[in-house]
Amino acid sequence: MDPSGRADSGDRHRIDASVAHSARVHDYWLGGKDNFAADRVAGDAVMAAYPGIVASVRANRAFLARAVRFLVGEAGITQFLDIGTGIPASNNTHEVAQSVAPGARVVYVDYDPVVLQHARVLLTSAVPGTVDYVDADLREPDRILREAARTLDFGRPVAVMLIAVMHLIVDADHPYEIVGRLKAAMTPGSYLALSQVASDIETEQVAEARRRYNSLARETQQHRTHAEVTRFFDGLDLVPPGVVPVPQWRPGSELEARAKSSMWGGVARR
Ligand SMILES: C[S@@+](CC[C@H](N)C(=O)[O-])C[C@H]1O[C@@H](n2cnc3c(N)ncnc32)[C@H](O)[C@@H]1O
Repeated sequence: MDPSGRADSGDRHRIDASVAHSARVHDYWLGGKDNFAADRVAGDAVMAAYPGIVASVRANRAFLARAVRFLVGEAGITQFLDIGTGIPASNNTHEVAQSVAPGARVVYVDYDPVVLQHARVLLTSAVPGTVDYVDADLREPDRILREAARTLDFGRPVAVMLIAVMHLIVDADHPYEIVGRLKAAMTPGSYLALSQVASDIETEQVAEARRRYNSLARETQQHRTHAEVTRFFDGLDLVPPGVVPVPQWRPGSELEARAKSSMWGGVARR
């Protein structure tokens, strides 16, 4: 069983090519090569229901990069806990952060065995000692915090990144308690950056995409409204413009702001 009590598909460290996994489907949408036929079938099924999906995941990656640039360049953050890392793509958190502050520290966390294989590459290509990887499930926040403390000093401000991962934590797994536990570990001056798929943007297409994904994938997606996503930031001060479609979060250009997206995102300070 996994921590939620649901049946787990065997040892999660074994690569299971027979069923779609979120990290690999996401890689497929981004044009990567680390995916199997089952991932491409699920990815295509979503795309057929919601043709905007590729633009949406690209807009989310651009949001991640802008949020990290803001956090290092304007908020002075040099420590990152990036949970739900994904298979490396362009502009990974440590690359963006270290391009502004070369000594910035990043701990990546994911539970997917394919991401774990890539983590070894991320770690060896980084500035020595500043990037770490924790193979863990977000539903075990205390373990994540304990292992991240090898590299991060939680007595100083940290940015917790939950980018495109909370829609993979269903309500039965207590997502608000998980985020609450992470927020409680953040010293004042720390930040939370979070994005997740909306249930109230392009509602019908995105709901049909979710139904198709959930029938084909190992993880279950749960989309949330603007109010439900905003609730993740409770107790923190949202940085303007607040919780918005991700392309509208401090866009670099008018064109970027107009990108298609079905994700809410925001950044807030403790
Ligand atoms: C859609 S991808 C997002 C990747 C990256 N954050 C981005 O925005 O480009 C979601 C990632 O979260 C990971 N993930 C999903 N559920 C998780 C959990 N319970 N614990 C740890 N990682 C999880 C998946 O393995 C996948 O790599």
